[in-house]
Amino acid sequence: MEMDPVNFYKLCARCCVVVSTASPRGISNAAPFSFNMPVSFSPPIFAIASQPTHDTWRNIRETGEFVVNFVGEELGDKIHILERDFPYEVSEIEKAGLTEMPSRKVRAPRIAEAYAWLECRLYDARELGDHVLIAGEVLLAEVRDECYDRVVDVARAKPLLHISGAYFGIPLARKFKRA
Ligand SMILES: Cc1cc2nc3c(=O)[nH]c(=O)nc-3n(C[C@H](O)[C@H](O)[C@H](O)COP(=O)(O)O)c2cc1C
Repeated sequence: MEMDPVNFYKLCARCCVVVSTASPRGISNAAPFSFNMPVSFSPPIFAIASQPTHDTWRNIRETGEFVVNFVGEELGDKIHILERDFPYEVSEIEKAGLTEMPSRKVRAPRIAEAYAWLECRLYDARELGDHVLIAGEVLLAEVRDECYDRVVDVARAKPLLHISGAYFGIPLARKFKRA
């Protein structure tokens, strides 16, 4: 069937990450982002696309830092709290009953319940359509030992994939032959 092009994103099951930031005064913020992608190996760059009005973008603009928290299925029922538009400097991490943990390279906090973390410093940002493409240099990457076996162990981490609205997926691991 032919679709309205505006619904193109409903064709991609995208990794759902939670981006945590801190305001210049150090108050934390977190929001789910599924418009995201790795961009470069050297330097290592990871990008998210944010609506320009989001507190996440305001904090990144003002502090130059963010953390990408990779979350699994068990955080699925917290996403609707993390996505709520609380007033600026109200911490969604606290509202969702999640645990804030200090990062090692940036002031933005990590979310302890995630299975992996990228601590990022703003590398570049530009308006693209109705979003801002925010690219961060990955200063530090860490994963729970039990969720990694040469690559992320999807059977253990159960990465949350976002499709649209309340629709999500959980991937199954498959290894195919390469030439
Ligand atoms: C699963 C999921 C994925 C989302 N992905 C994005 C995204 O990639 N970009 C975006 O701008 N908003 C996205 N949103 C909406 C934001 O998370 C939401 O508007 C949030 O309130 C923004 O919070 P903030 O103002 O604290 O940054 C997503 C929401 C959900 C539930």
